[in-house]
Amino acid sequence: MAPCLLLALASLLALVPSAAPGSSWSAVPRKTVPYAELKDAAKRFSQGGVSHYLTLTLDEAEALLYVGAREAVFALATGTVELKAAISWEAPVEKKAECIQKGKNNQTDCFNYVRFLQSYNSSHLYACGTYAFQPKCTYIELSGFTLDQVAFEDGKGKCPYDPTKGHTGLIVDGELYSATFNNFLGTEPVILRNLGPHYSMKTEYLTSWLNEPHFVASAYVQESAASSTGDDDKVYFFFSERAVEYDCYAEQVVARVARVCKGDVGGARTLQKKWTTFLKARLVCSAPEQQLHFNRLQAVFTLPGADWQDTTFFGVFQARWGDVDVSAICRYHILEVKKAFEGPYKEYREQAQKWGRYSDEVPSPRPGACITDWHRQNGFASSLELPDNTLNFAKKHPLMDEPILPHRGRPLLLKKDANFTQLVVDRVTGLDGTIYEVLFIGTGDGWVHKALNLGAHVHLVEELQVFEPAQPVESLVLAGRKKLLFAGSRFQVAQLPLADCSRYQSCTDCVLARDPYCAWSRNASLCVRTEGLNGSQLVQDVLSSDTRACTLPQVAKQGPIIPKNVTVVAGTDLVLTCRLGSNLAQALWTFEGRALVAEQALVLHDARLRALVVPGAGAQHSGTYRCYSEEQGARLGSEVYRVAVLAGPGMPLETRAPLESLGLVWVVAVCLGALCLVLVLVVFSLWRRLREELGKGAKAIESTLVYPIELPKEPPSPRFVPSAASDSDEKLWDPASYYYSDGSLKIVPGHAVCRNGGPPGTTSPPSAIPGQPLHSPTRIHLGPLRGSSSNGYIRLALGAEERPPCADLAEELRRKLQQRQPLPDSNPEESSV
Ligand SMILES: *[C@@H]1O[C@H](CO)[C@@H](O)[C@H](O)[C@H]1NC(C)=O
Ligand SMILES: *[C@@H]1O[C@H](CO)[C@@H](O)[C@H](O)[C@H]1NC(C)=O
Ligand SMILES: *[C@@H]1O[C@H](CO)[C@@H](O)[C@H](O)[C@H]1NC(C)=O
Repeated sequence: MAPCLLLALASLLALVPSAAPGSSWSAVPRKTVPYAELKDAAKRFSQGGVSHYLTLTLDEAEALLYVGAREAVFALATGTVELKAAISWEAPVEKKAECIQKGKNNQTDCFNYVRFLQSYNSSHLYACGTYAFQPKCTYIELSGFTLDQVAFEDGKGKCPYDPTKGHTGLIVDGELYSATFNNFLGTEPVILRNLGPHYSMKTEYLTSWLNEPHFVASAYVQESAASSTGDDDKVYFFFSERAVEYDCYAEQVVARVARVCKGDVGGARTLQKKWTTFLKARLVCSAPEQQLHFNRLQAVFTLPGADWQDTTFFGVFQARWGDVDVSAICRYHILEVKKAFEGPYKEYREQAQKWGRYSDEVPSPRPGACITDWHRQNGFASSLELPDNTLNFAKKHPLMDEPILPHRGRPLLLKKDANFTQLVVDRVTGLDGTIYEVLFIGTGDGWVHKALNLGAHVHLVEELQVFEPAQPVESLVLAGRKKLLFAGSRFQVAQLPLADCSRYQSCTDCVLARDPYCAWSRNASLCVRTEGLNGSQLVQDVLSSDTRACTLPQVAKQGPIIPKNVTVVAGTDLVLTCRLGSNLAQALWTFEGRALVAEQALVLHDARLRALVVPGAGAQHSGTYRCYSEEQGARLGSEVYRVAVLAGPGMPLETRAPLESLGLVWVVAVCLGALCLVLVLVVFSLWRRLREELGKGAKAIESTLVYPIELPKEPPSPRFVPSAASDSDEKLWDPASYYYSDGSLKIVPGHAVCRNGGPPGTTSPPSAIPGQPLHSPTRIHLGPLRGSSSNGYIRLALGAEERPPCADLAEELRRKLQQRQPLPDSNPEESSV
């Protein structure tokens, strides 16, 4: 059985190529930084009784971070996140009572959620809250950080009633542009301009303008700057909405960008106090090779350039494929957006009852266009002077025919099993003089991915577990000059440095990280921030991560490798781990100086932990084991184990030669051989395929082992039935025979039992053969790893909440297979073997 298993696994491992970093599907962050490791780098703020830290705004100088939360506004000092000032802004009791009376939830809805907080002028902020479903806005005086109680304004159209509804807004020259729902029921979407010298302006209430939108972002682009045509500034709005133009997919949601011109004051008769320049177009984010179309827009980040023509929009999208969540980032250039708005319109054809491209003559001046020099020269000084035929056309044709495609026609980044929620982008100059875009992406489970845009693909530098327990990252703000990132969630605000170069321990590690903020300093023998440093003594290669410049004597900070002593009882399944320091590295094992081949031992692959498993260790397994972690041909580090195998109870060394001991089970093995091989093939390919799903919690250091073993935490209880092979051997139930003196667990073959069944062999096949690995999906959590002072093997904690170990595997797999539609997949690693 064992040779069969090992050979099968060996051949499988040979077939399966290691993770291909460039492959869009398998985008693996190079480093995983769990919450506990992040602790020192991250600073956090929260205040008792306050939740929903959702609205984050930096002041001009990046000295203060303003935080809008539930019934409170805070001013925090950036760098320390120390509380500088706080305002309690509760909805009054009578408003809450009204809210409850109107049928809203007193636990969630009837509070004042601060949803808008932006600089109004040099002395005041403008703030809006949901105010128990009666939105209100007011000014916050900055010098004393006080709320102007007198100037309370109706927040209708400026802030949502419902705290869960999407909303966006921005203040431009004292005027507030907002996209929200205008009524209590949340049925009337509107894009509105308020405050300032003009009367308020809004969208026409027509489904062709806005149809159940979910607003996510807005952007102000100064297109008048140095314009040769006397063009106007524009405000862009990003949202998803129900499509009107696809009649056969009545339910289809699409992503949109809409825009209005800043100088728009509405029409004189037609479109009075309504936008005459409202135009919208579809944003496409599709991965054609994977046949994936992303329509749910979650967030948009606007990255300004040196001039407005260099403005870039990054869209965060989510989709579901069967039962798999997929997220994508698409990048759009503003000139592509402009082209769509200058292209043909879509039109509803009454006769065909369909939307199609409008191909007749377009009225002049062009409907939806901003007022430019040409308009002024032709007697249209403002939108009030536009002719009715232009305005009527604009009212009926808000949608452009041509969609806006992403840069290179496909997503910049695709990730399975991820729900991206937020994004900010920084530009950083590498030592090679190239300006790199670094993306910080928040997820639905509280992680932040740091991604480097390399043009053709994205390199995920690291993933940081910012919020634990898992909470969606609801907002992200970047302080570019202070090099800080702020993340808001339901329970906390967290501040992170944009880079923590000290995480990289060696020159090789530092260069392979491809973090443009970091370089290896030969002088200091440290990975340091490049900011303000001279390049001559620094090693960095963001583009090709060539580590050859590291060959100069590298000072190993940790000093020489200290071998870890491991002593085990014969028959024990020996598990040695290799901590790789990079998810893109591979583990290479040697035994007594010779490379280990898979027949001698089982090498388990896992993204974060590579383990060497020697089932039923015997005397011949004593010796020195060394693990090298290798990435792109460069060695990152190594670990050495000195293993001694001792004779154990009832397990004399001399009878423990592995093949001899198999004699007893050989007949069984032959019988089960074919079944075993088939099952192993299925298990292994499925294991790889389902690994991410099974191992959702695998962000902690753990792995999936394949042993039907359960060990007692205490002497036998009714729950724990001793196996037939050992129930006569009372002394084995002494905990001492399961734990080494340092608290590590021994694995004693033959003591596996089935929790829910009778004695092994009488219930469900496959029955446990003592000491042999079994093709069962029982999960054993390897962890926590022991510190370097100990002797280096792993405590095995069994997943008690997991499925019973003896559940019929074949049945289980079949069920899983039927449930799942295969995901279209370009990556050979993930396709079935
Ligand atoms: C909300 O209403 C429930 C039932 O009406 C009541 O038990 C609870 O105390 C209320 N909670 C608050 C915070 O008012
Ligand atoms: C800012 O706006 C507020 C509210 O309208 C006003 O009271 C204040 O005088 C303004 N400050 C400046 C410096 O203009
Ligand atoms: C391991 O064993 C060797 C030789 O027995 C000894 O010199 C060394 O100190 C031991 N190492 C540890 C970490 O205990």
